[in-house]
Amino acid sequence: MTALTLSTAAAPGLRADAIVIGVAKGAKGPVVVPGAEAVDKAYDGRLAGILETLGASGAEGELTKLPAPAGFKAPLVVAVGLGAQPAKDDSYDDEALRKAAGVAARALAGNKKAAFALPVEDAAAVAAIGEGVLLGAYTFDAYKESAATGNGSRAKNGKAPLAEAALLGGKPRDAAHKAALARATAVSEELNRARDLINTPPNDLTPEAFAAIAQTAAKEHGVKVQVLDEKALVKGGYGGILGVGGGSAATPRLVKLSYTNSKAGKHLALVGKGITYDSGGISLKPPGHNETMKCDMSGAAAVFAAVIAAARLGLEVNITGWLALAENMPSGTAVRPGDVLRMYSGKTVEVLNTDAEGRLVLADALWAASQEKPDAIVDVATLTGAMVLALGSRLFGIMANDDAFRSAVHEAAEEVGEPAWPMPLPEHLRKGMDSPTADIANMGERMGGGLVAGLFLREFVGEGIPWAHLDIAGPAFNEGGAFGYTPKGGTGSAVRTLVRLAELTAAGELG
Ligand code: BES
Ligand code: MN
Ligand code: ZN
Repeated sequence: MTALTLSTAAAPGLRADAIVIGVAKGAKGPVVVPGAEAVDKAYDGRLAGILETLGASGAEGELTKLPAPAGFKAPLVVAVGLGAQPAKDDSYDDEALRKAAGVAARALAGNKKAAFALPVEDAAAVAAIGEGVLLGAYTFDAYKESAATGNGSRAKNGKAPLAEAALLGGKPRDAAHKAALARATAVSEELNRARDLINTPPNDLTPEAFAAIAQTAAKEHGVKVQVLDEKALVKGGYGGILGVGGGSAATPRLVKLSYTNSKAGKHLALVGKGITYDSGGISLKPPGHNETMKCDMSGAAAVFAAVIAAARLGLEVNITGWLALAENMPSGTAVRPGDVLRMYSGKTVEVLNTDAEGRLVLADALWAASQEKPDAIVDVATLTGAMVLALGSRLFGIMANDDAFRSAVHEAAEEVGEPAWPMPLPEHLRKGMDSPTADIANMGERMGGGLVAGLFLREFVGEGIPWAHLDIAGPAFNEGGAFGYTPKGGTGSAVRTLVRLAELTAAGELG
């Protein structure tokens, strides 16, 4: 992982492979962004003109490389676009800084050290740039060891991530700046670990393997961990998780992570869908719909990352994280369309479509979470293709049993730079899940499928507990090219929102 430092050094004398500066879209062309004054001065104040000559406009995501001015120790200047220049007395917003830092960090892969001379007005800017660097520099190359080299050793493909980043303008002795950097580091490292889990192929990341990784990390960070294996799930009556996991040779697990703080006044429960591979089961997905379904444990990865990050930050809140882990496979022991499952809550569910498996594992975990009467429950899941159709691949949908709670979650998401949108739970869609045989069916009307799934989950939340459901099916896995600080593949969607919710709960401002 990239090492981050705060530095008061001046750009000219800095020993680095590159100096990153910002360029914004001004009314009359590109403008040099504050933080790069020394660099501009070394170009005799002509930097904006030089950038314009090179074709730069300052658009978000744009990257322009130019040779450093004479006398600079670093050979290269990298100008990254921040988008529109803010109004006179406004500063650059955190998300613009986060994205720009991410674009530059990714472009500098293969380098040892870069200095970031972006505008640092306050500690929040330090955190944003730090997060952008750490998240943007991320690469997943654990499985790339192809080319055997001539001398018999094996070299990895691709470039190593940027090794070191110095944030210029950051104050190494300022408590707020230091805290911002520590928070950015803890959250980004755990988020990147969630990405690793999502990107790990499903033949390696089985429910058992995921549980073992969670166990090791939890112990390392003083988080209590309890793993229910298949035998314990049978004993406990977790019919949803067992039903979904029953078709796979890799047996299911329910992992409970408990982070407690002696100063905590509130208890937040987080529940994650952890389908390590979703083939659809007997209701098999067609080709074209299953190639990326290793990402179906992204919700559990986000919950895991958020709990560990909260522990690293010592947040004054109790958090219980529930990872509902199973592999959805077709086989002679798989659940069939038409089967009825007796869930952990005691309700019966008629399985009409084995591909609607996420709600089954979540139902058991939501009910388990509810038994502890937490102050609030938030679940995260790659739950429905319908949510991707509704909101596209960058926003997640938020449903809740309480409008104020849904708004608070939405606000937290926007605050950390995770785009999301509130979705309703229309009562009339409930009757579509009426079953002639069981208490409820796992499928209803096709139209509004994301909301139907939300309504199903609501039935398994304990009475009176504020609950929100984040359907991250769109943003969890980036099938397109990298953008901003988001790589291809697993994105770590919802991790930052969950950490923010934990902080708000600690402050008594939520639930
Ligand atoms: N894991 C999928 C949802 C999904 C789709 C995640 C695309 C990421 C990208 C989920 O288990 C699923 O298959 N949902 C079905 C539900 C339907 C059968 C009621 C769907 O959305 O089609
Ligand atoms: Mn499915
Ligand atoms: Zn699924």
